[in-house]
Amino acid sequence: MCGIVGYVGPRQAQDVVLDGLRRLEYRGYDSAGIALVVDDAIVFAKKAGKLANLEKAIADAPLPPATTGIGHTRWATHGAPNDVNAHPHLGFGRRVALVHNGIIENFAELRARIEADSDELGLVSETDTEVAAQLLELQLASDIDLTEAMRRVCTQLEGAFTLVAVDAHDPSRVVAARRSSPLVVGLGDGETFLGSDVAAFIEHTREALELGQDQVVTITRSGVEITDFHGNPQEGRRYHVDWDLSAAEKEGHDWFMRKEIFEQPRAVADSLLGRRTAEGLLQLDEMRLSDQELRDIDKIIIIACGTSFYAGMVAKYAIEHWTRVPVEVELSSEFRYRDPIVDYSTLVVAISQSGETADTLQAIRHARTQRSKVLAICNTNGSTIPRESDAVIYTHAGPEIGVASTKGFLTQLVACYLLALYLAQVKGTRFGDEITEVVMQLEAIPAHIESVLDSAESVYELARSLVGTPSVLYVGRHAGYPVALEGALKLKELAYLHAEGFAAGELKHGPIALVEDGMPVLCVVPPRGRDQLHDKMLSGIQEVRARGARTICLAEEGDDRVAPYADVLITLPRVPVLLQPLVAVVPLQLFACELASAMGHDVDQPRNLAKSVTVE
Ligand code: F6R
Repeated sequence: MCGIVGYVGPRQAQDVVLDGLRRLEYRGYDSAGIALVVDDAIVFAKKAGKLANLEKAIADAPLPPATTGIGHTRWATHGAPNDVNAHPHLGFGRRVALVHNGIIENFAELRARIEADSDELGLVSETDTEVAAQLLELQLASDIDLTEAMRRVCTQLEGAFTLVAVDAHDPSRVVAARRSSPLVVGLGDGETFLGSDVAAFIEHTREALELGQDQVVTITRSGVEITDFHGNPQEGRRYHVDWDLSAAEKEGHDWFMRKEIFEQPRAVADSLLGRRTAEGLLQLDEMRLSDQELRDIDKIIIIACGTSFYAGMVAKYAIEHWTRVPVEVELSSEFRYRDPIVDYSTLVVAISQSGETADTLQAIRHARTQRSKVLAICNTNGSTIPRESDAVIYTHAGPEIGVASTKGFLTQLVACYLLALYLAQVKGTRFGDEITEVVMQLEAIPAHIESVLDSAESVYELARSLVGTPSVLYVGRHAGYPVALEGALKLKELAYLHAEGFAAGELKHGPIALVEDGMPVLCVVPPRGRDQLHDKMLSGIQEVRARGARTICLAEEGDDRVAPYADVLITLPRVPVLLQPLVAVVPLQLFACELASAMGHDVDQPRNLAKSVTVE
């Protein structure tokens, strides 16, 4: 949700900023812009549409050399995605250029105040950002530096924001501020960077600084100064980024999403690494909750959005089965508005790949005001959600660039299983050897995913044969139900098709009316070990087939009872029913990626979406 880059150093700022924007474009691609400080003036370029449009504009009208600059790639909130609303926004005297991620909630009031003060301060865009640019410039008129101006402006703003600004009169610094919106500092040798995430500067440095809430940071060639909004000195947390540039490149794949699907065996293996002690006990390093605190928990509420929510649905089956602790799963955006019943004995588990999703962040803040403990399952070191949680389990998927989550989802599932098993260990609801057996089954999953990926070509063929289909249904039962929902979400967001996931048993209560002759219905068949479940799923498949559906069944190898009812059979490796989502979702990811690609869509940057959703 908007990518931001800032740079001060000896290199050409334009190159550094554009490279950074390229790596952050997954965060938003409604427009892009850049501002440089050149000879006491701001030089800028901005264009609606993808970054390529900005690059073309700069190629047609090159910008002068400069060593201080900022850039932005936008996911529109206030104002249409056009050239005027694109960032950077300039102050009335063109002294300040500003880029922004987030929403300034009191912008209308601030705007009215500015417009009432003078006609000359006329605002040209529909954005909330331009208001902050004007306020900064008004502050600079009172002979203070940009850092102090930023502090004074921030105390007037409500909402969530990252602001990054340059002052035409001071090329030595870039000044930024953050509240509930992401920003990290990159520490180079004689150069300093700002980025919405480390991908912005990973090519230049892997030393990063995590910032806290309500802080203003000034970067210069020699380093960083951090204060709160009132000028009190603050410190950032320094960390080393343990992935490199190649992890953020496509490595021969046509889409980041496809590359990330194929990385899943590695991502799952990495997320399992180091989780067992020499004695065979499970350990979760960053748990930070004592065994007693975990034993006191009598209810778990999982909160998450989108794909992460479906990981939470799978987690419910696993946690309740292994620990007998009741679990509720709730969409973050609904949680705090329904007056939920949570207290000190409730564990709230927040699942978020990015660690920045505003709905989930606000939900955990609410949970903590109710005294409940919050545990984050997150893929992004240095992000806000783990920082504001009592405990964290980091997934080790590496950077996820494709807007549609794939390896993020699988590694979230792994973290959820580990959490469930760890709770079972601490609470004593399962024997040690049972836990070890499941951990060993998990350790076998990367090889199983490899075998699913080996038959990708047949899934691609199926996907290509379905170009032109108007609608696809997905059905599953038990842990296969969230897999069906996730499969449908992938197809909606990438192929822009009507796709819906249902619990197979619900079909007969209404949705079966949707089934028409030839309609593809993807059926996630549970393993045969659970006979009742398997039988009921077969009945559901026969019901849709009897009404003309083209059944595409995902069933474990050797399941000869499914074959007679499957128009297309995709075989899955044999794994226990609770772990089946880890292998069953992979063909659905491949299917959506290929179908969207065959339809000519941009798989990595689907329309209207952004990778991390930092507005509520
Ligand atoms: C779908 C997708 C989204 C995210 C959701 C939550 O492919 O990626 O539905 O899962 O926006 O994002 P995080 O996990 O970053 O909180």
